Amino acid sequence: MTDTAQENRPLIAGNWKMNGLKSALAEATAVRDALKPDPGTPEVMICPPATLLVPLAELAAGSPLAVGGQDCHAAASGAHTGDISAEILRDAGASAVIVGHSERRADHGEVDRIVRDKASAAHRAGLTAIVCIGETRGQREAGLTLGVVGRQLAASLPEGVTDANTVIAYEPVWAIGTGLTPSTEDVAEVHALIRKDLETRFGAAGRRIRILYGGSVKPSNARELLALPNVDGALVGGASLKAEDFLAIVRATA
Ligand code: 13P
Repeated sequence: MTDTAQENRPLIAGNWKMNGLKSALAEATAVRDALKPDPGTPEVMICPPATLLVPLAELAAGSPLAVGGQDCHAAASGAHTGDISAEILRDAGASAVIVGHSERRADHGEVDRIVRDKASAAHRAGLTAIVCIGETRGQREAGLTLGVVGRQLAASLPEGVTDANTVIAYEPVWAIGTGLTPSTEDVAEVHALIRKDLETRFGAAGRRIRILYGGSVKPSNARELLALPNVDGALVGGASLKAEDFLAIVRATA
């Protein structure tokens, strides 16, 4: 059985997706100003569009607010117009990068092998890879969730994973941006499977790898989701765009 007594420091990460003009830096500033440099509080991160990485990293410098990218290419540099490498993200001030988000899997045909190579690239550059997995509505309705999630996890993680360089985000595709969430029992069941698989593959580190839940997390449901066993934080889309809502989710870890 999974050891649910393990307490990992929660991570609340905001994924701004393709949202964020320069004026949105005011929201990031408000988040920064509300955070205290206390290891007893959750780690808080914003993943803005690439154009805002540098100014966001500059305003977050010296504060507990961390900055992440939303995707990276597997190569360190080269002729890949429009792409961004993990090394460039790191140079811009990011400490992490989301890889394998379902929107990238759907919009850009990213399969597990590509996601794994991107996670490797993140590690090479010294970034934490936030590796996303999750089933579609059809897969959930067909009773395939655990098999799908288990296979994605196995194939999306490279060798060399540690609790310091990797975070898993379980994001059911049908829960993203829809206001729908799985039942707390269903979230706990999937997170327990992920924990078991991580422990089997990575031993003690597998117990400490943080597993985030993502998909319609908002101030009104954050507390019950974040209290579940093996839920070590949240990956937040829409509700991360307003500092007030995002901070309410950060406070819901207490
Ligand atoms: P929403 O919180 O808007 O549902 O998005 C979740 C997500 O995809 C975060 O990566």
